[in-house]
Order: sequence, then structure tokens, then C-alpha cells
Amino acid sequence: MCGIIARIGHDDATETLLSGLENLEYRGYDSAGIAVQNGSGVKVRKCSGEVDDLKSSLEHQLHGNIGIGHTRWSTHGPPTDENAHPHTDTAGDVAVVHNGVIDNYDELRAELCERGHEFDSDTDTEVIPHLIDEYRATADDTEHAVRQAVETLEGSYAIAAIVDGEERVYAARNGSPLVLGLDDEEWFLASDVPAFLDYTDEVIYLEDGDLVVLEPDSYRITDADGTPVDRPVDTVDWDPEDAGKGEYDHYMLKEIHTQPTALSNTIEGRVEDGAVAFDALPSGTFTDVETVQFVACGTSYHAAMYGAQLLRSAGVRTEVVRASEYETMAGPVDDDTLVVAVTQSGETADTLQAVRTATERGARSLAVTNVVGSTAAREADDAIYIRAGPEVGVAATKTFSSQAVTLALLTQRIAADVPTATPLADSETMLESLADLPEHVETVIETTDAEALAREFHNSDSYFFIGNGLGHSVALEGALKFKEITYEHAEGFAAGELKHGPLALVTPETPVFAVATGDDGKTKTNAIEAQARGAPIVAVCPDDHPLADAADTHLSIPETHPVWAGLLANVQLQLVSYHAADLLDRPIDKPRNLAKSVTVE
Ligand code: F6R
Repeated sequence: MCGIIARIGHDDATETLLSGLENLEYRGYDSAGIAVQNGSGVKVRKCSGEVDDLKSSLEHQLHGNIGIGHTRWSTHGPPTDENAHPHTDTAGDVAVVHNGVIDNYDELRAELCERGHEFDSDTDTEVIPHLIDEYRATADDTEHAVRQAVETLEGSYAIAAIVDGEERVYAARNGSPLVLGLDDEEWFLASDVPAFLDYTDEVIYLEDGDLVVLEPDSYRITDADGTPVDRPVDTVDWDPEDAGKGEYDHYMLKEIHTQPTALSNTIEGRVEDGAVAFDALPSGTFTDVETVQFVACGTSYHAAMYGAQLLRSAGVRTEVVRASEYETMAGPVDDDTLVVAVTQSGETADTLQAVRTATERGARSLAVTNVVGSTAAREADDAIYIRAGPEVGVAATKTFSSQAVTLALLTQRIAADVPTATPLADSETMLESLADLPEHVETVIETTDAEALAREFHNSDSYFFIGNGLGHSVALEGALKFKEITYEHAEGFAAGELKHGPLALVTPETPVFAVATGDDGKTKTNAIEAQARGAPIVAVCPDDHPLADAADTHLSIPETHPVWAGLLANVQLQLVSYHAADLLDRPIDKPRNLAKSVTVE
């Protein structure tokens, strides 16, 4: 939530900052702003709205070789011009951008006001430039003043600051992501790599407590004790093209269409001679595991449900817990418990907190994430990557598919180690048919009737999604996708639950999407019960499934192993949501009130 960027080099920074902010807008789009340092003071431009609005408001282009920028998802105060970042001290000499939440800002602000500081915004962030300004009066230099300021803060932050008259960017992180990008002629700092991927793929993932000073020709990192540290330089294997919209109208459509490639990358090298292999998880890694707890939020929770069901059917004691409810809902934990954090971004605060709680209770942890160097990957005992490539659309699509496949493979890996587990009877067939999944997804994309269907139904009152077994998680995911981008009411249910209440809502104006994957007994019966009450039924299943004939409309998926069928059904539902949202003229990639990386609890 919130994206920050900083850039220092020898030539003008403005365009780089603006394009970087565009690539960070998935983190929030309530307001945007930049500040540059150009030898004649710190200049700030900011406004409510999106980066495009900021660009239009830049009548007189700002110029400066050093700058910082921000795109906001509001936490403290509404999305107004005043609350947009960067924020400055009273004299306007120090400008700061911030991602995170400062817990003690109320008391800091009261103290600063008593000492004569004037505030312009409702934000927690604004205390930071005032603190830096105040400490500069007594500290040896600005670096020490920044250190003192961050030591005063409680909460989470990634910050970047520029100061009038100084050819430097100062930055610090604690609990919010911050990556340093190294190019020949310039340095970057950002919340995420896509902000500068057009310029460099050489990165340093900063650690909590790190303080960075960038100068045009050098950078310096010190840890929380002020000791200089060398952090490893990584090379990111994402192509800049992966982060752009390409020929597509929306990132979401592009990301749906690139699922075959993403899935091929997910699978590559992980199935050999009928067995699953993860480099990071050699044979024997899970021998001591007795219970597996999956923790996740939103779409990742639905992928976790998928994985949990497979692991349970291999005879391993398994729970899946919504990360935000972990504290009270998780079962007992001991050192035989493995907690698996499923998180695309690796930065979701609820998920990170659940893992920390589980760790305190004695569990070991494994992160399943898309982002190398993310907090989840660094904090967990082990990490595996879903290799889906950058996902920019706020609605998760390709990452769900890659998560579900990674988790299906992981469950095989765990079951192979756990002495009491019984690997699935047909696991060999399942693994063999996985090789065809990317091609089957391609077929769905090429032959889908989703657009026509969306046209037929996009003015309905409500939309229900049902499924059982693996189809249940797909039904929940279908409903989540539909509501978040169309703003229409949509709910997902276990098919058998319809008759226990939701059936009261069913009318001829409420289409029911029924997902059938081939291992489901009840879905057809439950769909027919809804049909008898007048609801149009859309079957999402293979052609020869009995539900296809019984339903009013059919979205076809290729024949495959039941474990993968749900993922093909999900692609059909992604396309229905996309086309319905498009017909309703919704801002598909940036749905209202949401952000992709939810770094607040
Ligand atoms: C919905 C969506 C969210 C995320 C959730 C968890 O389309 O994207 O529900 O799945 O916020 O995010 P991660 O996976 O980054 O932990």
C-alpha cells in the first residue's frame, strides 16, 4: 500500500519518477506527488487522483537530478491534495515520501506543534520531515538527523527524503519493502522492482533497520547500529515487457492471457521422473511435519484452500486459516507444525503477522510467494517462488493459477516426506497431465464464450458461484474477482450450502455459475435446485460433464485431470468478470478502494 520511488543521477529525474510511479500505481492510486532538488530549493508537486492527474497538473515541468515520488492508498486522512505526499517541514527544506504507518504520530505531532512546527495535512507521515528538520539543528550531519528521526518512529516505514542544498537521497526501512536499483549512471530506491525495471535489473533488497545514503556516484548502507554493511546484489529475471501493458487494453487482460507462459515457468524443472522436486526443499525436508497450517488472504486464501484440500486427501493433518483471523482461529501449534504462508506480494501485513504468531508459538515456516526478496521470503525459514512474473492489475489472476499449481506440487513434496502420508493414488497421472495445463489454458482463452455471456448477464441483480471439492475454492475466487472489478454483488458458496440459506436470494435475475471439475458429486444437484427456482445456470465444466446438459448455458473447459480442471474453470470465470467489468465501464486495473499490496492490518 502506497508506492515510493527515489532517483539520483546526473540528468533530469522527473520523467523517471513519473514513469516509476505509474508502475507502482497498483499499490494505491488515491493521490500522487513528486519532489525534486535542483539547486534552487526543494520543489514539490502533488495532487489527489492518479499519476495521470499529477502529470496534467505539471504545467511547468519540474527539473532536478534528484527526486522522490509517491502514489498513495490513504490510511490517515482522506485523499486530498494536502494529504498527498511528499510532505515537508515548516520551511519546506526537507521533503519525505513514506509507505507504512507511524503508530506514535499523534504524540510526536503534539510535541512538534508545541515546539512551533506547523502542519498542513492529516497524515502520520508529516511528522517525519519535521523530525528530520529538528534533529538537523543539533546532529553532526543530515544522515545522523535521519537516523535520530527514524529511531523516534514507532510503526512501519519505508521512507525516502531529500534536503535542500544536498546532492543526496536518504532512505530507511522498517517493516515496509524497499529495494535499491543500481544502474551505471543512476541509483533508484523503490517499494518494488517494476518502478525501475526499464532501467536496471540489478537490485539490493534492503533489510529492516537499514539506512541508505545515495549520492550521484555512490551509495552507502548502514544497519540499525550504524555499522556499514554490504548487502548482496541480485539480478531480477523479469523482463521489462512483463511489467508493461503491451497490446492489451488492461493489465488484467494481459495477465489472463499470459497465464500459459506463467504456468510453464511455474512448472519448469519441478516435475522429474514422476516426482516433484523443489531445489529449496530437498528430500527429507518435511519428515518431522505432522500438521500443516496454510495462512493467506483473499485470492491467495482461495489458492491455499486448493492446496490444503490436496494435502488433506494425502492424509496429512491440514488447516487453512484466514491470516487476519489467525490469532484466534488457528489450531494448536508445536515444532511439528509447518505454517505455509501463501502470498503473491510477500508483503501482506495480515499474512506476515500470522506467520510471526505461528513462529512465536513454535512452528516452522515456508513462504510461497511471487516476489523474490519480499518480507515473507526473508522472514520464513524457507521460501519457494511461484514464478508468475510481475502482476500489475490489482485483481490477481495469473498468480492464482501459479499459486495453485505450486501448492499442488508442494503437497506432493510434503506427502513424499511425511511418514504417515499416503500420496494420491493417481499422482503419476496427475503430474503427467500437468504438462498439458498451459496448452489447455491457451485453448480456453482462444475459444471462450465469456464475452457473449457477460453481455447476456451483466445487468443482473446478483451473481452466485457454487462448486464443491476443489470447485469450492474456484467458486469463491470467481465471486471475489467478479465483485472486486464489476462492483456488482457476487457471492461464492460450497454448492451444498445453497439450500441452507442463500437459496432465498435466488431469482430469475441471479445467474448461478456452477463449477464442476469431475470429482464433484453434488454440484449438479445443487445447481438444478437453483434452476428450479428460476435462476439461469451457467455450467463451467468439461463438455461431457452431466452438468453441461442440465445447465442453461455452458462455458466449456478441456478434459483434464480433476486437479487441474478447476484452474481451467477459473480462467473462464476470470474472463467473465473481465468482460462484465468492461461492459460496465469499470476501472478494471484499479478498482475503487483497493490496492494490490495490503501492507496494513
Ligand atoms: C484479489 C486480490 C487480493 C489478494 C490479497 C492477498 O484479486 O488480489 O485478495 O489476493 O490481498 O495478497 P497477497 O497474495 O499479496 O498476500
